[in-house]
Amino acid sequence: MTRRFAGGKLVIASHNPGKAREIAELLAPYGVAVTMAGALGLAEPEETGATFADNARIKALAAAKGSGLPSLADDSGLEVQALGGRPGVESARLAGPAKDFALAMRKIEDELKGARDRRANFICALALCWPDGECAAFEGRVDGTLVWPPRGARGFGYDPVFVANGHAITFGEMAPEKKHAISHRADAFRKLVAACFGGAP
Ligand code: IMP
Repeated sequence: MTRRFAGGKLVIASHNPGKAREIAELLAPYGVAVTMAGALGLAEPEETGATFADNARIKALAAAKGSGLPSLADDSGLEVQALGGRPGVESARLAGPAKDFALAMRKIEDELKGARDRRANFICALALCWPDGECAAFEGRVDGTLVWPPRGARGFGYDPVFVANGHAITFGEMAPEKKHAISHRADAFRKLVAACFGGAP
């Protein structure tokens, strides 16, 4: 039986303001009082894990130990089939220190060298950890294909080149509420909420 969140404060273990806001919005219907790791002055641990789940756990555990409060972390990225799952946990790093995702998308397109297999998926790993070291882990996924050139200015990261299966437009062209209904993050959150926050709002 997965440990449940007993109420009170929850730390969002992310120093990415956009992602932290999205997590806070997804948890709002459950009456959870959230605090950001940055606001508590918690340091950002190095993401040394080999998997999304490892990295989510590293971030959530560091925040839980540092704050003495249950903490939630998200680690996510893009996996391209023809590249053996890359960039994977390197998804953010591929954009370089300037976080240039136009460049990162171009690098992937160049590496594909016209490959016919355009399948890709996003993964979102969530870890909810308590200060005593116990963690609950959840993973969400959305499958699709890569298109070129990039389309749409909505969303972030690799959204302009990703078309989810069953759809004709990229995540970059999709209304945010529509993306949030089918995304890897929404999938992972549904599992987290069902197990730890008492099901539907
Ligand atoms: P993280 O902050 O280490 O988890 O890195 C996540 C990276 O994966 C982001 O910087 C994006 O490049 C990519 N990514 C994750 N989720 C999405 C998404 O929903 N759309 C587009 N890119 C995403």
